[in-house]
Amino acid sequence: MTSPGSPTTAPVGTGSTASELFDSVLRYSNELFRGNREILRESYIPARLPHREHQIRQVAEVFAPALKGDIPSNLLIYGKIGTGKTAVVAQVRQDIQRRSDLSAHITFVTVNCGNIDTPYSLLQTMGNTLAPREADRIPTGWSLDRVQSTMRQLMDARGGTLILILDEIDRLVAKSGDGVLYTLSQLNTELEEARLVIVGISNDLKFTNNLDARVRSRLNEEKILFPPYDAPQLQDILRDRAKEVFKDGVLDAGVIERCAAYAALENGDARRALALLRLAAEMAERDRAKRITADHVVKAKSRLEQDIIIECCRTLPPHCKVLLYAILQAYERRRGGVLTGEVYDGYARLSQRLGLQPLHARSISNYLSELENLGLIRATIVSRGRGGRTREIVVDVPISETMPALEEDPLLAPLGRPKSLNQTILTNFDNPGRTGPY
Ligand SMILES: Nc1ncnc2c1ncn2[C@@H]1O[C@H](COP(=O)(O)OP(=O)(O)OP(=O)(O)O)[C@@H](O)[C@H]1O
Ligand SMILES: [Mg+2]
Repeated sequence: MTSPGSPTTAPVGTGSTASELFDSVLRYSNELFRGNREILRESYIPARLPHREHQIRQVAEVFAPALKGDIPSNLLIYGKIGTGKTAVVAQVRQDIQRRSDLSAHITFVTVNCGNIDTPYSLLQTMGNTLAPREADRIPTGWSLDRVQSTMRQLMDARGGTLILILDEIDRLVAKSGDGVLYTLSQLNTELEEARLVIVGISNDLKFTNNLDARVRSRLNEEKILFPPYDAPQLQDILRDRAKEVFKDGVLDAGVIERCAAYAALENGDARRALALLRLAAEMAERDRAKRITADHVVKAKSRLEQDIIIECCRTLPPHCKVLLYAILQAYERRRGGVLTGEVYDGYARLSQRLGLQPLHARSISNYLSELENLGLIRATIVSRGRGGRTREIVVDVPISETMPALEEDPLLAPLGRPKSLNQTILTNFDNPGRTGPY
């Protein structure tokens, strides 16, 4: 809480020019932070991972045989999002690499399968990490067999144990199947000097169900489950970071507790807790406040929820995006609920404008249910007397932010805000519901 006599808000400059505004922002930008605000970013690996001591030890125990030249077991790590899987493995890797007596025998390759999701790119990345010279690197365009045998030679030339960390391994399997995992899991029978250990990390607890039984049993030699964090654990994680990143006394009582409580309700996700704290600090800065208050956390939460909605809109299938766009247009024009007939007409008109063949009413009805399940719209049945019943649709997303997010898709870009005055007149005519400065 704010103590009496200590205002949380500093006087804002009355200047009206951009330069004066920037001066005022810079003046207050360091009120809250000690220095490096990257500490609150996801990519930062803190020196300590509270409440993951047990898992760090378990991972280290699995790797330990490599220190004596024995082959460690393959390992699968499971846990919901933001439970510290990537951070724990990165920390164990760092600890080993810091010690020259250990790192001589062990090489790590960490691959994020969200980006590298084909057998070729995976084997190429492994080979290129081991290539001692630029000339030994594996180019694109070789046959998969050649990449595989070159990678094996590079492994044998290096010797020791290669620990391959496949983060988000479920994405690799979803995109390319389990063929490359089969190849890798039997590589030790072909290697002469080197040994391979596979560490798979996944937040999809059921992903091994889709694996070939041999691959499943080879990967599953050791298994570690990361439980979600509870609210007091998240508080400890946040307090550690807050001490590093904020100046003394800028956090009101209750800020950390609130961030932790919200994130604990969202599956115990530490990433969410940190994002809330970071956004709350940004909200406080925007208000030129001298302290971060519980109110800033509330604002941060609603901003984060909006961001999630907008991200969800970006990933909809193309026709579903056009449909949502038509709903938003009609809703904005009417300033209230729209009937399904109107939505169909709007969707068909937009599809034609974009050169798309409109889908049948049945598919559109399915898409409407999908948008409702995602919480983007709400539909209620309304009676129209003798005209029967229809559905009235209400929008549950911020229109001013969702429309531009949809327009980012090149397919919908022609519907976007016009760049020139001529276009402005045309588009306003075409799209009378769109208001606001252009
Ligand atoms: N015990 C902890 N102490 C400090 N920070 C933590 C802890 N656990 C997680 N974090 C931080 O929370 C964020 C999310 O953690 P991490 O990326 O390891 O989660 P994850 O389990 O790999 O999630 P996902 O399944 O989504 O990949 C990171 O910024 C990480 O540094
Ligand atoms: Mg991760």
